[in-house]
Amino acid sequence: MCGIVGYTGKKEACAVIIDGLKKLEYRGYDSAGVALQKNGRLVIAKGAGSVADLEAKLGDQFKAVTVGIGHTRWATHGRPTDENAHPHSSCNDEIALVHNGIIENYRSLRQWLIDEKGHKFHSETDTEVLAHLVEEYYAGDLLAAVRMSLAMVEGSYGLVVLSSHEPGRIICARQDSPLIIGLGEGENLVASDIPALLAHTRRTIILEDGELASITAQKVDIYNADGCLIEREVFTVTWDIEAAEKGGYDHFMLKEIMEQPAAVKETMRQRIDTTTGKVNLSELDFTAKELSSLEKIHIVACGTAYHAGLLGKAVIEKLAGIPVEVDVASEFRYRQPLLKEKQLVIVISQSGETADTLAALRLARQKGLKVLAITNVVGSSVSREADQVLYTWAGPEIAVASTKAYLTQLVALYLVALYLGETRGSIEPELAAEIVSGLKSLPGHLKTILSEESLSSLRPYCDHLAKWESAFFVGRNLDYPVALEGALKLKEISYIHAEAYPAGELKHGPLALIVRGIPVIAIATQKAVLDKTLSNIHEVNARDGAVFAITQEGFEDVARQVDSVFYLPSINDILAPVLSVVPTQLIAYYTALARGCSIDKPRNLAKSVTVE
Ligand code: AGP
Repeated sequence: MCGIVGYTGKKEACAVIIDGLKKLEYRGYDSAGVALQKNGRLVIAKGAGSVADLEAKLGDQFKAVTVGIGHTRWATHGRPTDENAHPHSSCNDEIALVHNGIIENYRSLRQWLIDEKGHKFHSETDTEVLAHLVEEYYAGDLLAAVRMSLAMVEGSYGLVVLSSHEPGRIICARQDSPLIIGLGEGENLVASDIPALLAHTRRTIILEDGELASITAQKVDIYNADGCLIEREVFTVTWDIEAAEKGGYDHFMLKEIMEQPAAVKETMRQRIDTTTGKVNLSELDFTAKELSSLEKIHIVACGTAYHAGLLGKAVIEKLAGIPVEVDVASEFRYRQPLLKEKQLVIVISQSGETADTLAALRLARQKGLKVLAITNVVGSSVSREADQVLYTWAGPEIAVASTKAYLTQLVALYLVALYLGETRGSIEPELAAEIVSGLKSLPGHLKTILSEESLSSLRPYCDHLAKWESAFFVGRNLDYPVALEGALKLKEISYIHAEAYPAGELKHGPLALIVRGIPVIAIATQKAVLDKTLSNIHEVNARDGAVFAITQEGFEDVARQVDSVFYLPSINDILAPVLSVVPTQLIAYYTALARGCSIDKPRNLAKSVTVE
């Protein structure tokens, strides 16, 4: 996710853009830049750092200008450096553009532009390809040049373009990444999110996928994918700025829960070959020999990332046949782990800055092992110190309680497990195809779970749960790491003392705490152990505990045995944890809401624990 602002009108464009970008820094903040039209040319300033850092270096040449575009970046391709910051410009400096999204075929386009057309590139980003394409196709009409360029492109974009030849005109295009046009009096704006517009107008047009727009101070023309001029409904925003930063949701946590279908889709983009259906992790350069000779994998992480690692163990062992050991990073670094050759360490960290995880990474490298990092932040310490990096493309996660980053960590681990299995020939092609098909179905299933009807069905249970000071989460097999994650979510934002146990462990002690009505959330999605899980639910029922089950559609035996049930869309059991964790996230959110907790910033916690 990145922040984009464009302005054309009568005000100081640079001030409007900088102020707008500051309101979008929650969408990305590792680098920033502006491009303005001044006296028939483009003046550009950009660099690594915050919008405030950019503002501090803008000289007088950025004043008395009324048209421009700006960007605050969340790096996906290319580290956060001055060269990789947006705007990107053409060889002749007559085109400048800013982009939010991923150009999937940028490598082949870049090669063609260099080899066949002689273009020179200055960055390692996918976006820069677009600037050279528009230059290649520009013949006096910027709209036509952008349209022809995008016809060559596969991927997602919120794109805003300027030409030095067309004063006062901004062209924009949208595919999968949001762009909203703000309609002013004698001025018009475009931005990747509403907060950047509200100081100037509340009248907006939300561009739809495939649409392009030509914007001047006096006019906004919108074109559909076929190039036909169309009329679009004007939407008047009633939110205040703070609500708008959360996309209209009350908290970043709920916004990020709702972003999970898109985050999962983005993290899989480019990594499943659309023709062969095979996993494509060509961004990793392990040799086939290295992967085939692997004898063990260590997964090391903290908190929610650790829970992802537990599921990573199960899927890698099942699909790739490699033994996996999972450690909490703060334990791993002090227990003298037996690290040998032919072993790989995978560290998982949303922030990429967690001190214990970083220390574990350094220990592994000191011992001569290769380290693969799964992280959400390009340019983070973990990403720079690991041998290989597999990024989750969840976009910035602001709420302390991790949700969308966790889900994309799971997806990354499924992809790694399939990749290892295919490379080592240890997975049946039919099973691989079934799981790939299941992965592709995840965004749709997640949208179903996140429907308004689904959310409202959970509210009564959460209002009830909010009255308790302790609760249990139980599950067997792949359901147990989900129980751990659900308990952590509830603990960290509602402050209810929630514990998770393997369901089979209840009779070895915890059953002593089951009293009448105590909330027990049972994750029951794994057919192979369903009878066993049911018998554990019986144990709780026999002591009048109140069981809320999260199970798959069709698992009627479960529904008959519990006080309340949440059905998931049916899916291959091995993928069920990606779905079953979502109701636990929502239960934590709505229970914390009912208890009047702060939610996005829970007491005593930080988003990134950069100390031991
Ligand atoms: C999860 O909701 C917590 N905020 C916490 O457990 C977090 O997952 C843990 O601190 C690890 O953070 P990282 O992924 O940034 O390394």
